[in-house]
Amino acid sequence: MPYTNILTSKQDGYAIVQFNRPEVLNAINMKLMEELVDALESFDKDHDVRAIIITGNEKAFAAGADIKEMADASAVDMLIRDQFARWDRIRKIKKPIIAAVSGFALGGGCELSMTCDIIIASETAKFGQPEINIGVMPGAGGTQRLTRAIGKYKAMEMVLTGKMITAEEALRWGLVVKVVPVESYLDEAKTLAREIASKPPVAVQLAKEAVLKSFDTTIEGGLEYERKNFYLLFASEDQKEGMNAFVEKRKAQWKGK
Ligand code: CAA
Repeated sequence: MPYTNILTSKQDGYAIVQFNRPEVLNAINMKLMEELVDALESFDKDHDVRAIIITGNEKAFAAGADIKEMADASAVDMLIRDQFARWDRIRKIKKPIIAAVSGFALGGGCELSMTCDIIIASETAKFGQPEINIGVMPGAGGTQRLTRAIGKYKAMEMVLTGKMITAEEALRWGLVVKVVPVESYLDEAKTLAREIASKPPVAVQLAKEAVLKSFDTTIEGGLEYERKNFYLLFASEDQKEGMNAFVEKRKAQWKGK
């Protein structure tokens, strides 16, 4: 599929998807979402790619779903469009996804960063769920993922007032893992992507899966799931290689199987 709303590239074992609607602060329209999901699914199948970065530009990661595209829609239009079905497909991506956020990450932009596995922010990043200010509420996971990330009370304040939080607050509250100067947020994400890409890919995949499982299961069910993935890794050549390399005091050579 030729992309018109995103730019994609590949290097050093990771891929980058960059939103490319700067004139509207990377507002997420349906076409952008279609292209994003298409790119993520093809990178997920690509053996050269072991981690994926999603980013915007310095001014905006994404300022939300495209309000102009939704403004006149009826509830039935929204139901038929079922635009959030594509978001569910992001949840199925097996490779780790890093959001490199600078500037606005609002509404659907904040929600998209939270569908990623790790968020790196620039000092200028601002996260928010401002939907309340335009007569609606978060619809792409904000009430659920934000609450799990920062807790009920802070999430409630953000969702009910639409107030944005700074990168520093997001760091303090556990939404982002690192805040760096604006010149280096993408480089920081690339360093992290390279590091993850250097790990044994099957173990990375099963570990990501197990962490995500904790969102929708009991502790009992999650522990069982984790244990089975752990045992399953003993069927991989990389487990033998990793443990033998440790014993033999040498660097492991991963085969990805
Ligand atoms: N949808 C469509 N267009 C958008 C947009 C959005 N979410 N956000 C910004 N734009 C457009 C603006 O309309 C403007 O276009 P024009 O030049 O043609 O007027 C351009 O981007 C630049 O924006 P501003 O002039 O407003 O820039 P600013 O720096 O003054 O303000 C801002 C920046 C505070 C982010 C402001 O643009 C804003 O409030 N945007 C909307 C944020 C929002 O409400 N997001 C939630 C959307 S709903 C949603 O996401 C639902 C969901 O859960 C999935």
